[in-house]
Amino acid sequence: TFIHSVKLGELQYMHDTAVCVDKHGKIVAIEPQCDLSNVTEALCQKLSWDAHDLAITITKEGQFFFPGFIDTHIHAPQYPNVGIFGKSTLLDWLNKYTFPMEASLESLPKARRVYTSCVRRTLAHGTTTAAYYATIHVATTNLLADLCHAMGQRAFVGRVCMDSADVNPAYYRDESADESLSRTRASIAHIRNIDPSYALICPILTPRFAPSCTRDAMAQLGALRCSSGLPVQTHISENAAELALVKAMFPECGSYADVYDKYSLLGARTVLGHAIHLTDYEINLISERGAGVAHCPCSNSALTSGEAPVRRLLDAGVGVGLGTDVSGGYSASVLEAVRSAALVSNHRAMPMGKWAETPAEERERAKLSVEEVLHLATRGGAGVLGIADRVGGFEVGMEWDAQLVGLGLVDECPDECDMRDHGNVDVFGWEAWDERVAKWVFNGDDRNVKKVWVRGRLVHERK
Ligand code: GUN
Ligand code: FE
Repeated sequence: TFIHSVKLGELQYMHDTAVCVDKHGKIVAIEPQCDLSNVTEALCQKLSWDAHDLAITITKEGQFFFPGFIDTHIHAPQYPNVGIFGKSTLLDWLNKYTFPMEASLESLPKARRVYTSCVRRTLAHGTTTAAYYATIHVATTNLLADLCHAMGQRAFVGRVCMDSADVNPAYYRDESADESLSRTRASIAHIRNIDPSYALICPILTPRFAPSCTRDAMAQLGALRCSSGLPVQTHISENAAELALVKAMFPECGSYADVYDKYSLLGARTVLGHAIHLTDYEINLISERGAGVAHCPCSNSALTSGEAPVRRLLDAGVGVGLGTDVSGGYSASVLEAVRSAALVSNHRAMPMGKWAETPAEERERAKLSVEEVLHLATRGGAGVLGIADRVGGFEVGMEWDAQLVGLGLVDECPDECDMRDHGNVDVFGWEAWDERVAKWVFNGDDRNVKKVWVRGRLVHERK
């Protein structure tokens, strides 16, 4: 059984199906209505393959293949801080927890431990693609790229640019715009060296957020974006105090989105984290420029940032993916972000507080279904990162980035079962497939992720 999103709100269930992947990790055939007894012969004949060269994975009852998750916004150096945020909000959280931890990741041995754990953990949760913010340090940013490459995760890796003396502490910032750019170029060169065609590991320009950057640095990054075609990631409109700061620091710009637009940082393959408190003008501008949004519901709840207007973004034609935003977000699991996205969207539908004045019909429309949030976690994220032609679904010509999901079948549970092994999802057998998927979304975790592949390579297996 293969399940994937075909469009926003619609999952396709392909049962008794074979998906054939060649040695380059490409899907070369999808055969529906397979007869297990002669599937090997039939496929070898069709593809002119030798049966000896074939490796077959057959799902067990209750298992299904799902596209690998795409985390469009995660800070690898903040991984040791997951769950640690107290009652802080963005700006004090940055100073209290985040900048000290990131600064300490200048240490290569420490970075190796942290980044290895982070990549291993996210793979175990079924994340086949991650857009990582690293730190300002070139050597350890490059190490993160090396580790993703070695462990087989598809990744966008960005050295964080932060050269302003206003918000960034003296112990953790680039000395100047020129230094910020030369360090960024050094990291890009390293990544090009390990993966010349950027097939799996791609650099990403990463101005932390407008308040962290000088105009000079943003202008140079914008020029680099235009000349290189590289993707960009940054934060936008996350928190009220941040908005006031941007207004005070960039009085010449009409809005937060205008700041990025002014410096040519807003376009296709620009990933904007959070995007909570945007005006209609900004949403339209982002849509016109073709930039996308990384929706980070776990983080937005943890740091009391707000509830992002996902339906309005989608209605305006803005691409939306999901981000864990570790460690503003308390979990490295995209599935956690998936269910959180559903719940947060329900909050916008309740006639309370800020939303009480919103007409009932519009409030109801704000709700995101299981099918919709799973779309955001796969095809939506792929679109935002500009890789929708390669990953996010099961189609001939796309690459095999997938997870094998197994739910707990109660009848197969041995008498001495101690409930440890099969996770938190009990399937009785009478559930329809859409009901099984809903149970997985709301109660699943990494125990249900049995195997994970990126571009055909097995990169995680749950023993
Ligand atoms: N804004 C600037 N830096 C950060 C960060 O590290 N995390 C979040 N959530 N927002 C930010
Ligand atoms: Fe973030």
